Amino acid sequence: MLVDVSQTTAATSVLGTEVGFPVLVAPMAFQGLAHPDGERATARGAAAAETIMCLSTLSTVSLEEAAEAAPGGKRWFQLYWGPDRAKVQDLLARAEAAGYRAIVVTVDLPEVGRRERDLRTGFETPASLSDVTDNSLTWRDLEWLRAQTALPVLVKGILTGEDAVLATEAGVEGIVVSNHGGRQLDGVAASLDALPEVVEAVGDRAEVLLDGGVRRGTDVVKALALGARVVLVGRAALYGLAVDGAGGVERVLTLLREEVELALALCGCASPADVARSHIGRV
Ligand SMILES: Cc1cc2nc3c(=O)[nH]c(=O)nc-3n(C[C@H](O)[C@H](O)[C@H](O)COP(=O)(O)O)c2cc1C
Repeated sequence: MLVDVSQTTAATSVLGTEVGFPVLVAPMAFQGLAHPDGERATARGAAAAETIMCLSTLSTVSLEEAAEAAPGGKRWFQLYWGPDRAKVQDLLARAEAAGYRAIVVTVDLPEVGRRERDLRTGFETPASLSDVTDNSLTWRDLEWLRAQTALPVLVKGILTGEDAVLATEAGVEGIVVSNHGGRQLDGVAASLDALPEVVEAVGDRAEVLLDGGVRRGTDVVKALALGARVVLVGRAALYGLAVDGAGGVERVLTLLREEVELALALCGCASPADVARSHIGRV
């Protein structure tokens, strides 16, 4: 209390990329199902809101088309990784050429989880999905991948300190604490509960990000207090996309930004860097 918050900013940076506030758009497959403009609209909405869009390997438009839709936008590429190494190298080269600034390797999907709602509704993913999963991958393969690109590499889907240490030993620059929005193994830890142990294990060897269940600005500030550099939102952005395309994505992100700015001010923080563990009490 009684901290000068007349000049607050929610702006921060993550792996060298500046963002207007500490919320990114998580990678989500097949966005054309939510809106005909699909990933193009998400790219535009994220750019308008001054943040990073992370494009899924399983996008309904090509990575070049998503990039062209928002030329000034900041974007990362999420990699699913099948058995064909030449294809992986080709994707990495294309992403770099199209201005993607980091590679996010999702490691919690050796196989697709059992999504019972999808079974009930008869929802099926295209057969191409089997080209982008390889259930024989190990940390050795991650070391190989790290050597294939000059871009920063993040590993997404980490829930323990032990795995976080293995990821840093493989040379990655970022770790996304995530349980895939609860879509993979039923019963796993909530990512927020796993965050402190990952932050402690990693120290300053990598930047730690979090996704899962972020719905409010106060959720963002709680994650920052537990050591996350930024968070990603999945469903929240996708719902905005479904309602109103690029405008809907921008609106959702703007709401979150306003909530983050207010929560920072009410916590007596002039910027995300001021958020400390003590802001959420003794846990
Ligand atoms: C419809 C949908 C599709 C997803 N597709 C991918 C994907 O292609 N790659 C990936 O790494 N994660 C994917 N995820 C997981 C998200 O990146 C993220 O981890 C999760 O949605 C975060 O939880 P939230 O939805 O509560 O914000 C998907 C999530 C949803 C809801």
